[in-house]
Amino acid sequence: MQSPVIAPSILSANFARLGEEVDAVLAAGADWVHFDVMDNHYVPNLTIGPLVCEALRRHGVTAPIDVHLMVEPVDRIVPDFARAGASLISFHPEASKHVHRTIQLIKAEGCQAGLVLNPATPVDVLDYVLEELDLVLLMSVNPGFGGQAFIPSALDKLRRVRERIDATGKPIRLEIDGGVKPDNIREIAAAGADTFVAGSAIFGKPDYAAVVAQMRDEIAK
Ligand code: DX5
Ligand code: ZN
Repeated sequence: MQSPVIAPSILSANFARLGEEVDAVLAAGADWVHFDVMDNHYVPNLTIGPLVCEALRRHGVTAPIDVHLMVEPVDRIVPDFARAGASLISFHPEASKHVHRTIQLIKAEGCQAGLVLNPATPVDVLDYVLEELDLVLLMSVNPGFGGQAFIPSALDKLRRVRERIDATGKPIRLEIDGGVKPDNIREIAAAGADTFVAGSAIFGKPDYAAVVAQMRDEIAK
């Protein structure tokens, strides 16, 4: 398995001071910035777009920006995010009419491509496209909001997807998103995740470095 990545979701950051929040969480030891894009159509919430991604790059953020698109349609916004400095772009198959084409589009735009599985999306959606992907993102909450509770069936799903990824022999990351906290990250890692999104668990605490360190300790146990 690849080295663990901690990707704080800025959905739970203080948006009035976003640049400082991102600097702080990266200084605290986080690896990536998880960037949740919601359109009030595919999900019932509205957040941020390419302008904010570009603003973070202009602010001086050099860490990978992990864009999680919860938008429909998908393809139209992909080039905008690539130009804005996205490193990885993940999308939901339900929001794209042509999943294989969207993956190719993301890669042609120079980004890494990820597919996101909602809690009720079967793992079979990975058939025929898994080897094209750089990342599989499993939702352990229904998309749309931070601060929800981890759905336990995601653990079994992680194990199943981990097996499939290992069978490819390719360095495809397995990311988990939703309700990840220091007290459950150990079993999540044991089930096969190597990339961990956490929003409220990190930004909800005053000492980001302490939470990130606690998460790394738990993963390493
Ligand atoms: C939910 C988002 C998540 C969310 C996670 O739709 O994709 O990234 O911010 O927040 P927590 O860690 O608070 O569950
Ligand atoms: Zn997310």
